[in-house]
Amino acid sequence: MKIGIPREIAEGETRVAIVPAMVSELATLDAEILAERGAGAGASFSDEEFEKAGAKLVDSAPDLYGQADVILKVRPPSLNSGAEIDMIRDGSTLVGMLSPTTNTELVEKLLAKKITAFSMEFMPRITRAQSMDVLSSMSTVAGYKAVLVATQYFGKFFPLLMTAAGTIPPAGVFVLGAGVAGLQAIATAKRLGGKVEAFDVRPAVKEQIESLGARFVEMELPEDVETDSGYAKEVSAEFIKKELEAIGSRLPKTDIVISTAQIFGKKAPILLTEEMVKTMRPGSVIIDLAAEQGGNCELSEPGKLVEKYGVSIYAPINLAATMPTHASQMYSKNVTNFVKHLYQAEDRKLDFEDEITRGACLCSNGELLNEYVKQSMSNVGVTS
Ligand code: NAI
Repeated sequence: MKIGIPREIAEGETRVAIVPAMVSELATLDAEILAERGAGAGASFSDEEFEKAGAKLVDSAPDLYGQADVILKVRPPSLNSGAEIDMIRDGSTLVGMLSPTTNTELVEKLLAKKITAFSMEFMPRITRAQSMDVLSSMSTVAGYKAVLVATQYFGKFFPLLMTAAGTIPPAGVFVLGAGVAGLQAIATAKRLGGKVEAFDVRPAVKEQIESLGARFVEMELPEDVETDSGYAKEVSAEFIKKELEAIGSRLPKTDIVISTAQIFGKKAPILLTEEMVKTMRPGSVIIDLAAEQGGNCELSEPGKLVEKYGVSIYAPINLAATMPTHASQMYSKNVTNFVKHLYQAEDRKLDFEDEITRGACLCSNGELLNEYVKQSMSNVGVTS
């Protein structure tokens, strides 16, 4: 079996699916590891490191895709002319964050080429699969970096300072949505000395917020708000109304909002309206991490920094790519664990009865297997 690690070509992408330290682990599957020259450059991993780790360097993308039985990627293959999808061999296996629900054309091509594709976003959220959970890894990076990015647009200190030039109060930080990214943002803002409070609809989160030394913004929580997989369910419009009031009451005292609230497969809830932004002090900062799902702030523009009513609102896309070394290291460990799980059988045959293999599988041999994608695709006429 030949496993290929291509250079990512999507705009702004700096990560690589496999770092040199994981090459020898993958090789335990009796596999030959091929790395495209320059694959790790964006994440500061050199060709020499890949070679030293036992990978064979391949000069070009066509050469790599033409040889590999299994392709390990970060982003979905490109579809334009001279596209990566056309270079991938029919019947081979592809692993990556494939965003299938927003990429019908890719799904159609994967089906037509009988590619067995695994979309890492669909990894079941079960204990056994925790070490393969790329969403958690990338959210950890994004939550941490969101706070650092906020400091860039914030004209004040984070910590309480008592100086000869006077006392400076700590920055007030409000984190909306305390899942993986939110909890990491809380921890980072606390380390910088901010006065942190947070809110989430899932009751279990209150204790986690408090254990990080932040204050949970109290309000009556809706019942039965968590799915079996740990995600939040969509809450009622009536609840959101109350939530906006609770959030709104905190905003005049808040310097920085980090918003991370998301509902899997749905548009992110609007938790910061234009009227609410108007109540914030000039110089305040909002970092909207839900931008890819439409954003938590009504005024966010995905990928852009805008200034409205004296408030800087930044809605970054792919924040993980701004910390490519550790983001790649974490992603690579998750993918390696997954690939080792896939091919654990002595004959290296895939077991589609297995919960993890089946859960992450998008399609195989021309058949669309993921129920969630099936549903969203049936709306646009892909029924294979
Ligand atoms: P996510 O990125 O989908 O959402 C972020 C947060 O937004 C969640 O905590 C959610 O409750 C919150 N949210 C949604 N609607 C909201 C609203 N109206 N107001 C305020 N907050 C709102 O979720 P993420 O971070 O990927 O995972 C959430 C949880 O799933 C984790 O905290 C963990 O408990 C669980 N999980 C379990 C794993 C496992 O067992 N393998 C792996 C990863 C996460």
